[in-house]
Amino acid sequence: MTSLRNSESRYGVLPMLLHWGMALLIIGLAALGLYMVSLPDAGYDREKITLIVVHKAFGMLALALVALRLAWRLVDMLPRGVEGAPIWQQVAAHVMHLLLYALMLAVPLTGWIMSSMGGYPLSFFGWFEVPDVVAENEALFPFFIELHAWLAWTLVALVAVHVVAALRHHFVIRDASLRRMLP
Ligand code: HEM
Ligand code: HEM
Repeated sequence: MTSLRNSESRYGVLPMLLHWGMALLIIGLAALGLYMVSLPDAGYDREKITLIVVHKAFGMLALALVALRLAWRLVDMLPRGVEGAPIWQQVAAHVMHLLLYALMLAVPLTGWIMSSMGGYPLSFFGWFEVPDVVAENEALFPFFIELHAWLAWTLVALVAVHVVAALRHHFVIRDASLRRMLP
């Protein structure tokens, strides 16, 4: 049976749940982000505002989950490189995972900063108000909107490379890399 924690050769249940749950969450947030910004600003049914409120709450959930994931990574061991994979691929995979972590943090953080600078409230699913992380700043607000979009699309591009690499390892090279991320 797969254990909660990682072992030398595979991922544990918790890292797996976090990986696949966050994959769905991030892909959903990117699709929602793209759709909501395409809506006109003065929609009479306020659909755009509702979707932005939802996007911000799920985005903060992503931030909380990535923090949990990083904390777990500090206390748990990492599986060793996949057997049979050349060193350069193991290093490339490691660097890619670190870049994905950096962006999984930077994207929601820039969203939070942007929302605070714009002076907008940030409700966590109507449960509580998330405090502002920085003071209101009209001058920097547009810059952070751009930065958030730019970082989000960089994350999506890196995820695409990550997925192609995962599928190539599974179907072409036929090693254990995908299986060790599955129950
Ligand atoms: C992993 C988490 C997140 C992802 C993947 C994500 C992704 C995106 C994307 C793809 C867009 C559309 C960008 C464009 O093409 O213009 C967007 C817009 C936006 N995001 Fe996020 N986001 C995340 C988290 C957050 C958080 C935590 C907040 C705020 C608390 C936030 C606030 C916004 C806002 C306000 C916009 C609309 C900006 C505008 O008016 O153009 N996002 N997001
Ligand atoms: C938003 C989407 C995704 C993100 C941000 C992401 C991120 C990551 C990260 C950071 C790791 C390193 C292990 C960890 O700390 O959990 C990882 C491992 C892995 N991911 Fe993803 N992932 C995403 C989607 C996917 C998808 C769709 C697939 C499959 C088609 C996939 C396949 C894998 C595999 C096989 C591993 C294990 C690699 C190894 O052997 O170490 N990922 N992913």
